[in-house]
Amino acid sequence: MANFKIGVFDSGLGGLTVLKELVTELPEHHFIYLGDTARLPYGTKSRVTVQKYAIQAAKFLISKGANALVIACNTASAMALDHLQNQLSIPVFGVIDASAEAAKNLTKSKKILVLATESTVRSEAYLQVFSKLGNYEIEQIPCPLLVPLAEEGFWDHEITKKIIEIYLEKSRLDFDTIVLGCTHYPLLLQSFLKVIKKEIRITEGSQLLAKKIAEQYQNIPSEKKLDIFLTDNIGDKKMASELFSEATFEITDLSF
Ligand code: DGL
Repeated sequence: MANFKIGVFDSGLGGLTVLKELVTELPEHHFIYLGDTARLPYGTKSRVTVQKYAIQAAKFLISKGANALVIACNTASAMALDHLQNQLSIPVFGVIDASAEAAKNLTKSKKILVLATESTVRSEAYLQVFSKLGNYEIEQIPCPLLVPLAEEGFWDHEITKKIIEIYLEKSRLDFDTIVLGCTHYPLLLQSFLKVIKKEIRITEGSQLLAKKIAEQYQNIPSEKKLDIFLTDNIGDKKMASELFSEATFEITDLSF
């Protein structure tokens, strides 16, 4: 295969945090990213809707030549990974197993707080993965306000800190590790670090996932390239251009 392409998608720009790790691990590969900004957020939607959006995103990326697919979105991984794996003939990777694995590697008390979208929490995907990993006490808190703050560029901001505090106050678990169970949340890391106690560890799976994918594809010939598609305009694209200053952005439409 002359030019192996890896398709990556998210509801918006949060998945760029995963793409960044993938590009770090596979710097000579061709990536095609789709941010479904027109239909963001996925995190409040039903399984049926998220599956429909995920299939459309996947088919778009395949039409652009993707040979493997990374769902850089916890919500779509929670609700549509099996569906995509059953419907598509190319390998499909989700982010949830890697995030749970990263937390497993860090926790000492085995008490873990998962912060995620409402739909991810409702799906109980994290509870299922952790139950397979061993005896863990898991608490989940949905944080619906964090995605718009990340998209808005309020990454290190007083308002973001305040909202994180309010969400963390809901916790009843004496956790030692937090999983950022939404690919938008790592963008808010500076705000998180200013709010949580020093001894609390905070993690997510994008690095582990990128390493696993790199192991599989590093020897397959590709071409250093990055194409980014969005389904709607995102104003000055501040966030996207901060993460990928060299990339060009094209607006597309999934009703092909
Ligand atoms: N970034 C997505 C995730 O990891 C969801 C954001 C949204 O609600 O669309 O769950």
